[in-house]
Amino acid sequence: MRVMDKKLKILTYGCQMNVAESERMAGQLQKIGYSLTENFDAADLILFNTCCVRATAEDKIYGKIGEVKKYKRQNPALIVGVVGCLAQKDGENLIKRAPHVDFVLGTGQRGELINVVKNFESTRRQFVDTSNVSGLISDENILPVRAGEVSAFVPIMYGCDNFCTYCIVPHVRGRERSRQPAEIISEIRETVGAGFKEITLLGQNVNSYDGGGKTFPELLRDVDEIPGLERLRFMTSHPKDLSDELIEVMAGGKNICEHIHLPVQYGSDEILRRMNRVYTVEKYLALVEKIRAAIPNISLTTDLIVGFPGETDETFSETLKFLERVRFDMAFTFIYSKRTGTPAADFPNQVDEETKHRRLEILMELQNKISLEKNLALVGQTVEVLVEGASKTDGNIFSGRTRQNKLVLFEHGAEKIGDLVRVKVEQAQTWLLKGKIVS
Ligand code: SAH
Ligand code: SF4
Ligand code: F3S
Repeated sequence: MRVMDKKLKILTYGCQMNVAESERMAGQLQKIGYSLTENFDAADLILFNTCCVRATAEDKIYGKIGEVKKYKRQNPALIVGVVGCLAQKDGENLIKRAPHVDFVLGTGQRGELINVVKNFESTRRQFVDTSNVSGLISDENILPVRAGEVSAFVPIMYGCDNFCTYCIVPHVRGRERSRQPAEIISEIRETVGAGFKEITLLGQNVNSYDGGGKTFPELLRDVDEIPGLERLRFMTSHPKDLSDELIEVMAGGKNICEHIHLPVQYGSDEILRRMNRVYTVEKYLALVEKIRAAIPNISLTTDLIVGFPGETDETFSETLKFLERVRFDMAFTFIYSKRTGTPAADFPNQVDEETKHRRLEILMELQNKISLEKNLALVGQTVEVLVEGASKTDGNIFSGRTRQNKLVLFEHGAEKIGDLVRVKVEQAQTWLLKGKIVS
């Protein structure tokens, strides 16, 4: 048997947390001889790191799991494993639906991955474990194999206690658990030492971080002091927990970027109440005002759900008005997806598919108009861009992001990936800016 030359193909779905966790799993598996490949044919182990936040995500993943059956026919020694949120949710049922899957490992069990793979290599016995959903994650201090070279994700907490009535995440990720500040700081020092310029702290709700008494703003301030770090970001913030202290730390920060992703989900009090979001439209607007007063060049992005049960033409038009009032830089818009086991799945007055799609179109059209207007206002200005790489379609064009997290394309000269450059914005589109380097 080949010992030190095995190939791992990871397919990652879902949020940034999954991206971060795939990097950590690659780090674990490296210890038992697996190195990453992009190529299905070359793989000895195919790992699906999955998401179940919406039915569309699930369908896509099941489709892809079905597709890898053919690689198993070509190479019967191939191991197929499924981990992450969908694995946690479906467990045994996943094996029933896709019998060619060799192991299913829930979110709390991620630290056991090495043992599970080693066991399977020797016993070839199918294995499912979705117990211990709120378990401690024992691999969190394993050095991840990071995908990029400039920007790195660092999880600071796992799980969620908020139980928004539409959301499956607390069910598949368990209760909130925070990493110790010393471990986070040491990982970031190491990562910055390895040449990374930008760190994004991750958690389902970073504002309720509790690292043995250390709050999120305190942690953020400490990380901001790390030498060599050039940009510091975080996500996601729940509006109910975004404190004055955080705004203060951001306003006085050195490298903390002027961007907050602040999911509002909806713009009507009645729906927000039934979503269990625990804030009102007025409270959210007051928070936005406070943030903008303290950090005038802040960019705000959000998540929105259309078609939540009980949505009417009135609540929907309130949401449109709300969007016009806040004027987000960008919004991720989702169609409500019924998740079995969540309260909203059993709420009366579910909205029909056609209405959901129609409303989504209207919502996106309005937000796109606002996003474009906000970007057009930047034409003529010079922005600081962290160079992230060459554009996929044209090697002469580089791409990067502003501190406000806006994507910028520009013709490159002598600068390198990882450099901070100044770009004069010449053109604006809904999703990106185009410009030229200024010296
Ligand atoms: N913890 C983060 C993100 C969680 S999931 C937060 O609270 O903001 C990312 C987004 O998916 C959510 O913000 C929400 O807009 C969306 N989402 C969650 N459950 C959904 C569902 N059942 N249907 C449609 N969108 C959903
Ligand atoms: Fe889901 Fe709400 Fe938790 Fe976000 S805060 S993960 S939307 S339950
Ligand atoms: Fe999906 Fe799990 Fe993230 S359900 S959005 S991968 S926390």
